[in-house]
Amino acid sequence: MKRNIARCLLAVAGLVAPILPASGARAQDDVVARGEYVAIASDCGACHTVPGGAPFAGGLAFHLPTGTLYAPNITPDPKAGIGQYSEAEFARALQKGIRRDGSSLYPAMPYPSYARMTDEDMHALYVYFMRGVKPVATPIVQDGMTWPLSMRWPLTIWRWLFAPDPQAVRQAMAARQFPDPLVARGSYLVEGPGHCGACHTPRAITMQEKALTAQDGPLYLSGGDAVDGWRPVSLRGEDRTGLGRWSEQDITRFLATGRMPLGAAFGGMTDAIGHGTQHMSDEDRLAIARYLKTLSPTAHTVAGGWTYDPAASQALHAGDVSARGARLYVDSCAACHRTDGHGYPTTFPPLAGNPVVMDPVPDSLIRIVLEGNTLRATRQAPSAFVMPGFAARMDDGAVADTVTFIRAAWGNGAPGVTAADVGRVRRTLSPAHPPASLPMN
Ligand code: HEC
Ligand code: HEC
Ligand code: HEC
Repeated sequence: MKRNIARCLLAVAGLVAPILPASGARAQDDVVARGEYVAIASDCGACHTVPGGAPFAGGLAFHLPTGTLYAPNITPDPKAGIGQYSEAEFARALQKGIRRDGSSLYPAMPYPSYARMTDEDMHALYVYFMRGVKPVATPIVQDGMTWPLSMRWPLTIWRWLFAPDPQAVRQAMAARQFPDPLVARGSYLVEGPGHCGACHTPRAITMQEKALTAQDGPLYLSGGDAVDGWRPVSLRGEDRTGLGRWSEQDITRFLATGRMPLGAAFGGMTDAIGHGTQHMSDEDRLAIARYLKTLSPTAHTVAGGWTYDPAASQALHAGDVSARGARLYVDSCAACHRTDGHGYPTTFPPLAGNPVVMDPVPDSLIRIVLEGNTLRATRQAPSAFVMPGFAARMDDGAVADTVTFIRAAWGNGAPGVTAADVGRVRRTLSPAHPPASLPMN
């Protein structure tokens, strides 16, 4: 019986043999397609592609205290790009932070997270970059790289101290128990390729993330340091300042469209969505959401959940705008965000109960009022809505009063901000937005 099956298989193999090259090519195409998906889930394009530029030809500038570092060209061009990287060298760069020439990479490249990626995903990624990406011969010139930025040995020490060992990490991952395979997939996507913690986890003074996985404790994804003035909020279960009141569906919708009833994407998150999550499968977005919902609130959570308090709305309706912040809000903001603070969900985000508005760090809130923002079009939400900037119309005191009003109103109950806070954020903005000489009112 066994032998018959074996003979049968041989016969089939014989039949199949002549068309093997074609199916081999198809298998190769499958690997390229899989690798392309891994590149999306890992968001390589957010840093290595500039808006309007050739894919992966390099780009994003990182302003480090020691100079400006540009993400390199990672197309398969042998001179300008990574065409000469072997698969082992590629995996070493991505997971250990070691360049082909043996020097260490800046952790601006999120290799401590990529250390978690499986061999299978790494292989597909390599095949995609070598065969699926168009070579671009233009090198990225690191013209801002002066000593000591060009000096890489301190990075080697950093790596020894803080970078996880991919082997050990994989063993720890295999030992973890998950209640649900979807949560397991979500933990892989978030902690590994998605490198969400690179933005959403606070960093120590020596720049390493204070926690790299959910197992490292409640600092993981508890809200990161402001990047270019934008503060990545907590993705844990806090009711007011985290994802406590977001449903799985709110999260998946946000990752697909950049908007949801409780808020809209801005700052680095628009890139994470634009290059990454909006192109992922529904199932993977659900896996991420389900995993995030397993993260408990951080210890320093403000006691009590958020509930809507109509007092501010009633006062505004009754025409009570005695406080300057309330008056400024009615004049400048209420047309879109409404006096009841509910906005027009998915078009003009609500400010009532919005984690960004209640965030302990008010930087992105101040920044968005100063600079405005465009709610970017995504595949599933193709229209763009504009929040105007008020930098030229409001001085620091007026912005502080308006922001203090929205942080206190509608049950938000978050502490106020001062003109000095606004001044600090204003100084980080481009000179196109000088402080206004004529305050509005
Ligand atoms: C958060 C930004 C960021 C993301 C995301 C990112 N990179 Fe990088 N990458 C960088 C920066 C910055 C450098 C240069 C670091 C340096 O010079 O020390 C770099 C360097 C590299 C290098 C070394 C190239 C060389 O000069 O030899 C490779 C290879 C690379 N990245 C591939 C990838 C791939 C593949 C992905 C997606 C899986 C990815 N990167 C995602 C920022 C990023
Ligand atoms: C480049 C930095 C960056 C990366 C990487 C990043 N985020 Fe964010 N994220 C932000 C910033 C900044 C905000 C705050 C602005 C906003 O709400 O859009 C944010 C907000 C969010 C919010 C909305 C929270 C709220 O209360 O408004 C969710 C959900 C989220 N991120 C999930 C993720 C997930 C999941 C990943 C990984 C797949 C990720 N982020 C990766 C920067 C980042
Ligand atoms: C013309 C309509 C309009 C006006 C006027 C306006 N906004 Fe907005 N606002 C928007 C839109 C659209 C967004 C979403 C933009 C984005 O996040 O990319 C937004 C976003 C915000 C956010 C971020 C919310 C989140 O979670 O993403 C805050 C905070 C905010 N506005 C506060 C204000 C304040 C304070 C004022 C008055 C000083 C104001 N807005 C005036 C349209 C407006």
